[in-house]
Amino acid sequence: MKKILDVISEALEEAFEQAGYERKYGKAALSNRPDLCEFQCNGALAAAKAFHKAPMQIAEDVAAVLTGADTPVFEEIQAVKPGFLNMKLSKAFLSDYLDRMASEFKFGLSETTTPLSIIVDYGGPNVAKPLHVGHLRSAIIGESIKRICRYMGNHVIGDIHLGDWGLQMGLIITELSHRQPELVYFDESFTGDYPKEAPFTISELEEIYPTASARQKEDEAYREEALKATFDLQNGRRGYHALWEHIMQISVEDLKKNYRNLNVYFDWWKGESDVQKYIPDMVAEMKKDGFAYESDGALVVDVSEESDQKEVPPCMILKSDGAALYTTTDLATLKERRSLADPDHIIYVVDKRQEMHFLQVFRCAKKTGILKEDVKLDFLGFGTMNGKDGKPFKTREGGVMRLETLLSDINEEMYKKISDNHAVDEEEGRETAKLVALAAVKYGDLSNQATKDYVFDIDKFTSFEGNTGPYILYTIVRIKSVLSRFSEEGGSFAGLEINEAGDPTEKELELALTKFISVIETAYEELAPHKICAYIYEVANAFNRFYHENKILTEEDEKKKRGYIGLIKLTKELLEECIALLGFDAPERM
Ligand code: ARG
Repeated sequence: MKKILDVISEALEEAFEQAGYERKYGKAALSNRPDLCEFQCNGALAAAKAFHKAPMQIAEDVAAVLTGADTPVFEEIQAVKPGFLNMKLSKAFLSDYLDRMASEFKFGLSETTTPLSIIVDYGGPNVAKPLHVGHLRSAIIGESIKRICRYMGNHVIGDIHLGDWGLQMGLIITELSHRQPELVYFDESFTGDYPKEAPFTISELEEIYPTASARQKEDEAYREEALKATFDLQNGRRGYHALWEHIMQISVEDLKKNYRNLNVYFDWWKGESDVQKYIPDMVAEMKKDGFAYESDGALVVDVSEESDQKEVPPCMILKSDGAALYTTTDLATLKERRSLADPDHIIYVVDKRQEMHFLQVFRCAKKTGILKEDVKLDFLGFGTMNGKDGKPFKTREGGVMRLETLLSDINEEMYKKISDNHAVDEEEGRETAKLVALAAVKYGDLSNQATKDYVFDIDKFTSFEGNTGPYILYTIVRIKSVLSRFSEEGGSFAGLEINEAGDPTEKELELALTKFISVIETAYEELAPHKICAYIYEVANAFNRFYHENKILTEEDEKKKRGYIGLIKLTKELLEECIALLGFDAPERM
């Protein structure tokens, strides 16, 4: 289906042509004076120069053509000084457009005709380290980006890209070797099979890592040991590898549970460890092709460009001790991704402080031929989640806030609010609270432009009023309840036709709904979920105004009543489609 602005522009183009001007001047835009009109066109001003005529004359000529049209798109079209065209949409045209939206697949949105292979790299937790709020943004934004790309008809793979090959593993191994030196994993002469059961549980693991991490900061010898253990692990020491597998198995299971609670699902659970095998050949090729050279003992590739405003340092491939780095792993990951999915587009949803790292990786991958020149690489760097004091979000005691704690605090807060509002069955109340809490957190994040820092304000996010997730859900639930009463009273949803708008609130809601297609397209093109949030907030507000001004179920004119039901049903469906793209769902009641 065509976007509403395109349909309007076409009518205008036609009219410009019929009036003796050129089609190209007939571009419509949303009005920036909603008090005067719904849409506007400034084409007459531009045409004036080319046609040596007063803009007002041109605007009047075009308005005259449109006023006399057989199937009017506009109910009102006015030429106003100095040559603007102000328009209000015909109510019949508007309700027809919505009826079509209601009946079409994906509400008339056209999927791309050339589906791309897209990888979204998000989440990025570090195995065995607790998930903290910093990982929350990547999960929330990445999940939404993935869903939006997929909705447009692309082949999309979400990859968690685990940090599973670093020093944290050496630290855990070292700490374990101190606590339980008798374990068979530490016996280098052992050649048998290692036990299937891990020698620790997830809660022990959660305690081991922070302990080890704290100790290495004070104890130099301990740190050396951990570095050595990391090196040995990476160089294939059997017992360490077996321990690593235990750590992975237990942590990944726990991570899956955590991400499930966030309604976040990855297609690939790959990590840094998976791509180590590509490194030796990759490095050899870079050397052979003359891209990589030695500098102060390290191996580097130049990636600066003449047009650079600020310095882009060479991309480091191997440290002077021969060790691979974060960059090396990301380059090897691109090699693997190319061979597995031949991506056209890769989107990284990572903290914006990593921008330079990705700039180097992207340039190096293109320069050395790891990726073809036409692969699109996007770094979607997000800002910091701050507390109310404007500083990075912390616990009340000033520590790093664990994701689980944060979520259970919000669940609790939401449950309180819901049970304060009205008596609820405990179990249902808890389930509802979980859904609403997730919406609060996700919407609170996504409604801001991703690149910006934002203040994580629990009180604001969990409020049922204002631009919040709970307000959106509340609106959906309100509609659901009207619809179910309609159906309980014997109403049927078959063959509903949306009304030619009666009062202004009905028209406002209808107009708001028409924007769906263009909003989703823009959110996709700009990788901007916040545009979807702005849209659903507008729709929810328009719906609530309409709801206060009109009696729906008690409307006596049956046709009109069914028109209302058709309208609010479409409103509900569009809101639900949008929140699914944002990564949360609405409860039945709240
Ligand atoms: N594990 C990394 C971190 O915590 C994020 C990984 C982002 N993705 C990537 N391909 N480098 O900072």
